[in-house]
Parts: sequence; C-alpha cells; structure tokens
Amino acid sequence: MILIFGAGGQVGQELAARAAAAGMPATALTRGEADICDARQVAGAIAAAKPAVVINAAAYTDVDQAEREPDAAMRANATGPGILAGHCAAAGLPLIHYSTDYVFDGKKTVAYREDDPPAPLGAYGRSKLAGEQAIRSRHAGHVIIRLAWVYGRYGRNFLKTMLRLRRERDEVRVVADQRGCPTATADIAEATILLMALATKGRFRFGTYHLAGTGETTWYGFAREIMESANAITGKAVTVHPISTSDYPTIAPRPANSALDSALFERTFGFRARPWQEATRAVVAELLDNGEAR
Ligand SMILES: NC(=O)c1ccc[n+]([C@@H]2O[C@H](COP(=O)([O-])OP(=O)(O)OC[C@H]3O[C@@H](n4cnc5c(N)ncnc54)[C@H](OP(=O)(O)O)[C@@H]3O)[C@@H](O)[C@H]2O)c1
Repeated sequence: MILIFGAGGQVGQELAARAAAAGMPATALTRGEADICDARQVAGAIAAAKPAVVINAAAYTDVDQAEREPDAAMRANATGPGILAGHCAAAGLPLIHYSTDYVFDGKKTVAYREDDPPAPLGAYGRSKLAGEQAIRSRHAGHVIIRLAWVYGRYGRNFLKTMLRLRRERDEVRVVADQRGCPTATADIAEATILLMALATKGRFRFGTYHLAGTGETTWYGFAREIMESANAITGKAVTVHPISTSDYPTIAPRPANSALDSALFERTFGFRARPWQEATRAVVAELLDNGEAR
C-alpha cells in the first residue's frame, strides 16, 4: 500500500491514476482529506492506510503569491513536510518528496546537479529548500526529487494555459530568456512508481535527485512546441513572439537558468524522462483528443 498526500494536485492526480492502472494499492488523500500541516491528521492517515511507503505530492506552488504570503508557503512547503518526515521516521517508512528547480538562483550556465549549492531567489524557492532541510534533519529514509516546469493533463499548468490562449488569440508573447526542462507528470509518476517497485526489492537509494524532461528549452521554445503540436492536430496556427523577462515583470524573480541534470537519477534508478518535445506532443494530443482544449 502506498499513501499519497496532496492527491488533488497535478502530480498527485497523475500518481493516483497511474498507481491504480498499475494495480498498485494506494490511498490518495487530497488536502480536504488530510492536511500535511496537521500532525493528528497525518498520524491518523498513516495509521489507517498502513502504507509501505509515503509520497508527499502536497505543496504550495503559486510562485508569485508566495511573495505575498511567505508564511503560508513556509507552512505547506516546510512545516508540513517536516511533520510528515517525523511520522515516517517514527514508523520506519520511506518518504518520497518532491522539490523544485527554483531552489537555484539561475546563475550557472549549464544544467544544475544535485551537489550545486542552492540559493533561491524567492519565497517559494526558500520554502521548498526549507522543506528539503526539514526532511533531511528528521528522517534519513527519504528520497527528495527536484522537479522542474511541471505540466500534464491534470490541474493548472503552462501547457494548458497555452492551449487556452490558442483558442482566444492568433499570437502570444512568451519569455525567451529563462531556460529550464519541461517535465511531464506522466514521467514523474512513472519514475515514482518505479522507485516504489525498487523499494520493495530493497533497491531504494535514499538521497536527493534531479528528475526533469530530457533536453532543455525556454518558455518561448516550450510555447512554440505546444502551439505547433496543436496546429498539427487542429490546423489553427498561432504565432509565438519571443520577449524578455523585463517585458513581462512578475512579483517573484525567476532563475534565468534552472535546467536540471538528471544523470544521477538515471544512473541510480535506470529511468530517464522522455525528451521534452515528445512528452509535450503527447500531452497536447491527449488533451485535444479529449476535447478538453479544443
Ligand atoms: N508546478 C511546477 O511547475 C513545479 C515545478 C517544480 C517542482 N514542483 C513540485 O512538484 C510537486 C507537485 O506539484 P504540483 O504541480 O502537482 O502542485 P499542485 O498542482 O499545486 O498541487 C499541490 C497540491 O497540494 C495541495 N496542498 C497544499 N497545501 C496542502 C496541505 N497543507 N496539505 C495537503 N495538501 C496540500 C494543494 O491543494 P489546494 O489546491 O487545495 O491548495 C494541491 O492539491 C510540489 O512539491 C512542487 O513544489 C512543481
């Protein structure tokens, strides 16, 4: 049995769906069903599910809003994970937790490795880094997976925003001077399920890893791939114009480069995410085929 917290989010929903499809027994709890900041609810959920492994997909993920309410971000992204880690340690349960590329400041010119020093630029990144530290200090039996630019069929994300804009407009402007690795929730869920299978064979390797879509691009490049993939299916062309970060000011500063090097994850667990273009095309096709984004 696996126990998933934060099951209402884009990664949480994908994980629950894929675990069910793989015939893997899972208890998937949304925020309404279990708040990771509430120690009693966490203890109750673990006691009821009797899991072999716990997955934390819960997080405060609104990067700009986190600047306005840093305490709320810190609660969900650091206090809650610390509570989870304490309960998992007491029960001897491995904990899989997700973190972010935004723990880095973006000054590096090539992809970030796990041992590069974090230096978050904003409140969201600081809260996620504090969450990593809270887990490491309370429970050695953790796998922390730093993700990047997450998108998929569930929840809200950049790809779905682009699909909405293509219905409304003939052209869009997208930032072309921030680099990163678009990462599909399907790949994250597949990798996580693989980890759980390895855990049952005693081949779990605790630690901190990067896992992102293979290759890297800018938000502009990602938007073009989305629009071209959609155009190939629907025949509606949308022009994407590159702009700079200074043309699109946001409350929270973003790293100019937050590409992640996922080689350690591949070496350790034998899993590599799909090239980001391939995964993008698949998600666009799935959403358009479902009629959701037409
Ligand atoms: N999204 C990205 O681009 C991105 C990039 C890098 C890393 N990540 C990391 O990937 C992980 C999954 O992110 P995601 O994109 O799936 O996020 P998401 O779609 O925003 O989902 C997060 C879920 O956590 C829930 N939640 C918030 N506070 C909670 C609490 N105290 N107790 C229980 N549940 C709570 C949210 O519920 P409500 O909606 O009700 O608040 C939401 O359902 C997170 O660790 C995130 O930091 C995401």
